[in-house]
Amino acid sequence: MHVSTVSLVLGILASAKYIVPAGEWLDTDGNFVNAHAGGITVDEEDGKFYWFGERKTEDEPEGGGISVYSSEDLATWTYHGLALAPIEGHPYIAPEHIIQRPKVAWSKEAEQYHMWWHADNSTYGWLLQGFATSPNITGPYSFVSATAPLGNWSQDFGMFTDYKDGKTYALYSNGDSVEGRDVYLTSFNSNITSLDSVIHRFDKFDLEAPTIIQTDQSYYALMSHKTGYRPNNVVAFRSDSLSGPWSQPFFVAPLNTRTYNSQSGFSLRIEGTKRTTYLYLGDQWDSRSVWESRYIWLPAVIDDEKMTLDVVWHDVYDLDVKTGEWSPIDGETYYAKDAVIEGGAFKQEANFASGGIIVTGIRGNDSTITFENNTDDMGFGDQPGGSPDRIGGTWILRRISSVTVNGDTANIKELRQRDTHKGILLSTPLLLDLKEGSNTITVGGLSNGNGTLGADLDRIVVYLPEE
Ligand SMILES: *[C@@H]1O[C@H](CO)[C@@H](O)[C@H](O)[C@H]1NC(C)=O
Ligand SMILES: *[C@@H]1O[C@H](CO)[C@@H](O)[C@H](O)[C@H]1NC(C)=O
Ligand SMILES: *[C@@H]1O[C@H](CO)[C@@H](O)[C@H](O)[C@H]1NC(C)=O
Ligand SMILES: *[C@@H]1O[C@H](CO)[C@@H](O)[C@H](O)[C@H]1NC(C)=O
Ligand SMILES: *[C@@H]1O[C@H](CO)[C@@H](O)[C@H](O)[C@H]1NC(C)=O
Ligand SMILES: *[C@@H]1O[C@H](CO)[C@@H](O)[C@H](O)[C@H]1NC(C)=O
Ligand SMILES: *[C@@H]1O[C@H](CO)[C@@H](O)[C@H](O)[C@H]1NC(C)=O
Repeated sequence: MHVSTVSLVLGILASAKYIVPAGEWLDTDGNFVNAHAGGITVDEEDGKFYWFGERKTEDEPEGGGISVYSSEDLATWTYHGLALAPIEGHPYIAPEHIIQRPKVAWSKEAEQYHMWWHADNSTYGWLLQGFATSPNITGPYSFVSATAPLGNWSQDFGMFTDYKDGKTYALYSNGDSVEGRDVYLTSFNSNITSLDSVIHRFDKFDLEAPTIIQTDQSYYALMSHKTGYRPNNVVAFRSDSLSGPWSQPFFVAPLNTRTYNSQSGFSLRIEGTKRTTYLYLGDQWDSRSVWESRYIWLPAVIDDEKMTLDVVWHDVYDLDVKTGEWSPIDGETYYAKDAVIEGGAFKQEANFASGGIIVTGIRGNDSTITFENNTDDMGFGDQPGGSPDRIGGTWILRRISSVTVNGDTANIKELRQRDTHKGILLSTPLLLDLKEGSNTITVGGLSNGNGTLGADLDRIVVYLPEE
């Protein structure tokens, strides 16, 4: 797979039933879906998907508790409140504590739902696993304990249930100390109340955010490197058996896209009536405002014969969870090289871009790039890539531009373009109100915090709303 095929697009539009990676995902109440570093449990009773994740707000970027949403199609999400609420003064789940990477499994023997997570204090000095239970999948969950797994440390927490025998496992990195830096795969006891025995240790790879995808023949363990909120190239290990031998780690997305600016954390196997689809569920962290972080969910294409797993980018795709089929949505493309530019913006040779040219140099609010005659009803997107990564000594993880439609300066949208690596342009989705017939879309400058650098554009792609 060549990097140049990856990403030169800029996509937009979000209709409720399509999946738009990195889009602004709204729940059925119109609020931002707030369930970061989450896990999804399919409830055997009603067959729905339940998404548990960290609730992050500007006031409480950590310790906001665990929110829960439900969906029948993985695209429309209904909020059910906090499954696990922080409790003032509690020794383990007070608002000042870390409650991260929650996962929920049904315990058949205990006849209740068991939630596990990474439980820590604010300086990550405990490295424990939290445990809470509820008779109802949406909770509220009651705290049971925070323990050291088999007497050891536990940081990023994952959970995996083998679809063949129903057995559940914990996955956890064991911290950053010299003695740590491993990832453990450890079985739970039969009622998922404590850990049993270590099945495998991914020794000294210093990885985190683990998840396992199971095919008919193989297990693929995906993990990220440890680079904080900066994205990196997620790797996978393959094995015929959970106890190994596991393969060498290999990259799951085109190099230097840093897994399309995302971190691993969870995955889903969707066994439909027509095909089995594997979904990579990643987080696109926003280090400046972590509560505004987005979600990158993409199909993983697996070839067990070649022993490969590739997470494939699509701006917008339609997934049918009943049949397991998914298909990318087609958009209308407008190239930046054909746009009208004003102010300091300029066209620059870029051999990785569409037509060999990007438009760059949006600085301050005097530069604009205008695309004319977009005829679709909704949508839009853009991409960056050629501008410096470091401004005033600070790493810049995103560039922010203004987007104006048909000169309506009262309704300017912000376009937050994510950065990965030189020569890589990733799609940035944005939902716009376009009118019937011809439209004019203008991308201009806006403050991006440190410096005044706006987006770099290769093209925009307009996606039609769902009929
Ligand atoms: C879980 O199993 C253990 C040992 O098998 C037992 O002691 C415990 O009571 C069980 N807990 C629940 C909630 O079923
Ligand atoms: C977190 O726990 C560690 C280990 O007990 C301790 O050294 C550290 O001071 C604690 N941090 C805070 C903020 O309490
Ligand atoms: C679980 O749900 C049922 C039905 O909605 C409700 O009656 C019950 O109170 C709930 N239990 C808890 C612990 O919330
Ligand atoms: C704890 O983890 C370290 C690092 O993986 C390992 O060397 C040690 O054996 C573990 N201890 C136990 C009790 O599992
Ligand atoms: C453009 O930027 C200048 C200086 O940063 C500011 O004074 C002015 O209000 C801005 N104009 C608009 C339309 O945002
Ligand atoms: C946009 O449409 C108008 C009216 O149809 C036409 O006059 C103009 O040339 C078009 N502009 C471009 C860039 O195609
Ligand atoms: C610039 O970056 C520094 C360091 O990350 C941050 O403290 C400061 O708030 C930023 N300034 C603006 C205007 O965002």
